[in-house]
Amino acid sequence: MSSPDLLIVGSGLFGLTLAERAANEHGVKVTIIDKRSHVGGNAYSEADEATGIEVHKYGAHLFHTSNERVWEYVNRFTTFTDYVHKVYTNHKGVVYPMPINLGTINQFFGASYSPDEARAAIAEMAGELAGSDPENLNDKGISLIGRPLYEAFIKEYTGKQWQTDPKDLPAGIISRLPVRYTYDNRYFNDTHEGLPTQGYTAWLERMADHPNIEVLLDTDYFDASQPLNKDAVRGQLPVLYTGPVDRYFDYELGDLKWRTIDLETEHPETGDFQGTSVMNYADASVPFTRIIEPRHFHPERDYPKDATVIQREYSRFAEREDEPYYPVNSTEDRESLLRYREMADGEPRTLFGGRLGTYQYLDMHMAIGSALSMADNKLADLLRR
Ligand code: FDA
Repeated sequence: MSSPDLLIVGSGLFGLTLAERAANEHGVKVTIIDKRSHVGGNAYSEADEATGIEVHKYGAHLFHTSNERVWEYVNRFTTFTDYVHKVYTNHKGVVYPMPINLGTINQFFGASYSPDEARAAIAEMAGELAGSDPENLNDKGISLIGRPLYEAFIKEYTGKQWQTDPKDLPAGIISRLPVRYTYDNRYFNDTHEGLPTQGYTAWLERMADHPNIEVLLDTDYFDASQPLNKDAVRGQLPVLYTGPVDRYFDYELGDLKWRTIDLETEHPETGDFQGTSVMNYADASVPFTRIIEPRHFHPERDYPKDATVIQREYSRFAEREDEPYYPVNSTEDRESLLRYREMADGEPRTLFGGRLGTYQYLDMHMAIGSALSMADNKLADLLRR
């Protein structure tokens, strides 16, 4: 194997975007390594063996963006369906539309409020804690949308996500709780939304389909037995690293904390389990946070009429060996992150990117957008170094 001009660690959307730009814009030879046995990072999907239904292996992925450049870019590799995401929530055995909107409010209070009446009613309920500075997430939630709606739809759900009573969570975790005073229950507000027509994997593989791009799977950057490992490559080649920043520095300043999810897959004997793609479970008495039924992501496909697949989602804090999904972002984490960033800035011929490399939650369009910016602003310099 000849040495590449650029090594990319991680074949998620960040790594793939930078690889594509490097190959097409700069005409350089790129090698992407990934420790997993497939490309695409967390956006990867595969056909469920029993039903053929496309399942998002690492959790539900819905593409949406208002960034025209990103939309134009992704459309080079795939078309998108006209899927519009909607979420419902089960509270005490009754199903309500989410995010909280006029339909949710009127159903919950058994009312027929107009938008102005609903706004006034919620403002009055939220006034319970008027004048006080919320000290924890519980008080913050009440001060934003009033106790009844907060306690029904947010309190126990958030408690399950964080395995922590919201009274013990910092108020800063939420800055706002969206309430819509219309019956619009589209989940996303973005200009563009949809799912890749031929599935995520076809899209992601197309991004790497270039004669100058080589992909090596099952290849860990920290595995000294493979030739493109950190010790052999550091300072010798330009590198984009999209793995966890704390792992890169051997956890020298401690572990950055993450939450993860466990997905429990089941094949109920029916052609349609819940009539929609995502059903949240708001109450603490149900241990999982939501059920995903992937067949509803693609109503246009010819899936079996008598079989389906569902994924129950459980949320918990991640251990080192788990998949890191959502940054916990405590004060301690933020302090360590600043120091890790300083160390990253000093790394020879290496840039850090993506959600793991920068320790931040990035939606897909944000990961792509930030990789395009890196390609614009830093790639030429990295290749020259
Ligand atoms: P990503 O994690 O995808 O890729 C990093 C890659 O690096 C992985 O493939 C990993 O194996 C590899 N790697 C790490 N260490 C390595 C090493 N030592 N050696 C070799 N390879 C290594 N976004 C959105 O827009 N809509 C949505 O609905 C969702 N839903 C969603 C659900 C869940 C549960 C999660 C966790 C995330 C989402 N997202 C999302 C976010 C989306 O997954 C995210 O934007 C992309 O994964 C970001 O791509 P990256 O390339 O940054 O990371």
